[in-house]
Amino acid sequence: MPDNRKMNLKFASRAVHAGERPAPRDFVPIATPIYASSSFVYDDLDQMDAALGGAEGVFVYSRYGNPTVEAMESAVAALEEQDSALGLGSGMAAVNLALLACAKSGTRIVASRDPYGASVKLLDAIYRTLGVETEFVDIRDLEALELALSHGEVRAVIAESISNPLLRVTDIAAVAERAHSVGARLIVDNTFATPVLLRPGTLGADYVVHSTTKYLGGHGDVTSGVVAASSERRAELNDLNKATGGVVSPFDAWLVLRGIKTLPLRMERQCRSAAIVADWLFHHPKLEWVYYPGLQGHESHDSAKSQFPSGLYGGMISFEIRDGNREKVFRFLRALEMIAPATTLGDVYTLVLYPVMSSHRALTPEQRAQVGIGEGLVRLSIGIEDPVDIISDLERALDAI
Ligand SMILES: Cc1ncc(COP(=O)(O)O)c(C=O)c1O
Repeated sequence: MPDNRKMNLKFASRAVHAGERPAPRDFVPIATPIYASSSFVYDDLDQMDAALGGAEGVFVYSRYGNPTVEAMESAVAALEEQDSALGLGSGMAAVNLALLACAKSGTRIVASRDPYGASVKLLDAIYRTLGVETEFVDIRDLEALELALSHGEVRAVIAESISNPLLRVTDIAAVAERAHSVGARLIVDNTFATPVLLRPGTLGADYVVHSTTKYLGGHGDVTSGVVAASSERRAELNDLNKATGGVVSPFDAWLVLRGIKTLPLRMERQCRSAAIVADWLFHHPKLEWVYYPGLQGHESHDSAKSQFPSGLYGGMISFEIRDGNREKVFRFLRALEMIAPATTLGDVYTLVLYPVMSSHRALTPEQRAQVGIGEGLVRLSIGIEDPVDIISDLERALDAI
């Protein structure tokens, strides 16, 4: 049916305007639409003025807020049991924005000793040049943490709930208490654990960060991030982001929103399969050590047990090949048939990564050795395939070395 409001326009103008901006109608789509719109128009300029002034629930420009992105943010906030969340263009944009909200030149940040490689680079190579010093500590050692917090003005403590790649588990409540006692805010990267295992905000974290590229998206088809926080902190973050512009596209936010619907199902399957695979790997003679928080011998098993009420221990496993080196690891990787080497995790596919080549490539060999990342370390992200197939692929590849 022709759009009668536009029929008085010339052909070229009709091509531009016909069909656009239909009047609102009385229906609610079952799935949230993708609002692929950079800006939003109003019949009334007073309404637009109020929207630009930050009125609740209205949109004016997608760098300031977008309905699809807001739907994804609400979903993350609901899962993390936080008031609100802010969607961003990547996990690193989320880590950076939370840090930026806390850091001031001449102050300090305390970080866990073994975070994701890019977080080390951000703190060590970028924030340092801006006059913000970072001290990296073993965050499980509360005395070392207290010592690091005892000098200078520490504005933020940052840690991963489950660390990458050695899967050490942070005692969130204990770290939050220490951070708050000196007025610092706690940022927790909950990418590996997901809110299925742990909700750091309920244990005292001030900002919960995710690379939604990983488990929340879950299908290897999106790059994005999110920070969940109180409404007050979210407003502060959004204000910063209006100026720094690390937004997520509505389409990517929509993919994350869709991914979240199956997060509990995927995560349960991935964790159960990971427990089976970790147990199998643990008994393999060609492996020096297996890192999985669900294994009794893992250094963080007790902490994981007390903090993960679901009885699930995550879908990530790392293992050290006996007398491993780059050549041996490459032989293992080349022999895999179903499991794909990829620089990501948390997808429906089982993925494998060599941290020395990938996530921790930016670190010097000395820095890697300091945190316990050996030349023979391999990281596995368990997918939703049948664990029998995952194990036979691993068996074939381990036979080849
Ligand atoms: C724990 C953790 N945090 C943050 C990031 C960064 O996320 P993104 O790649 O979406 O920027 C990653 C990426 O692997 C990660 O593993």
